[in-house]
Amino acid sequence: MLKQIEFKKFYYIFPQTVALIGVGKNIMPVAWHTPISADPPLYGILVSPKRFSFELLNKENGFTVNFLEYKDARIIARTGGVSGREHNKLKEFNIAHIPGKKVTGVILDRAYGAYECENFSVQKYGDHFLFIGRVVQVYIKEDIITSQGVVDEDRVAPAIYFGKDRYITLDPRKIQFIKRG
Ligand SMILES: Cc1cc2nc3c(=O)[nH]c(=O)nc-3n(C[C@H](O)[C@H](O)[C@H](O)COP(=O)(O)O)c2cc1C
Repeated sequence: MLKQIEFKKFYYIFPQTVALIGVGKNIMPVAWHTPISADPPLYGILVSPKRFSFELLNKENGFTVNFLEYKDARIIARTGGVSGREHNKLKEFNIAHIPGKKVTGVILDRAYGAYECENFSVQKYGDHFLFIGRVVQVYIKEDIITSQGVVDEDRVAPAIYFGKDRYITLDPRKIQFIKRG
């Protein structure tokens, strides 16, 4: 049975996927991110104005969104524990990357998928800002797409955030195909 609880923070119902956002030469993890529209292709990230990335988002032409595997969860924890104001995270943590083609953010070699997003809009919602980008470039790791055009659950173990610095992944044996309706 569910019970009502007194709450200070409401958003601790997990899991959530984590993406590493690249802006300029900096990266930071976000658990708050989502597709917004298919046509035009829009992706949204929610960033606190306390972040160095927030300053960069207001200067640069867009951002990248990098999706990492469970085996690389340490990169998420490290880059989410320090600020680009004081640290060159890409260099200090030795994170291999290439520059984006259309925006200044980086694409990480270890990502199993990534987007480049050009600035589309920005709007304040309470204590976070929703930055929406138009997806202009998509990357996907070779050999992980099946002949049915979906990501193969046996070839990718995504990093999933379970709250309080805990990371988990999916058990591909638990996958179910259930037709709608
Ligand atoms: C798993 C995880 C998820 C996070 N999600 C968000 C988020 O959605 N939005 C946000 O503003 N900060 C989020 N953070 C905090 C920033 O990533 C963190 O403060 C980072 O060090 C900021 O880096 P910067 O100052 O270089 O931009 C998250 C951190 C972690 C570890």
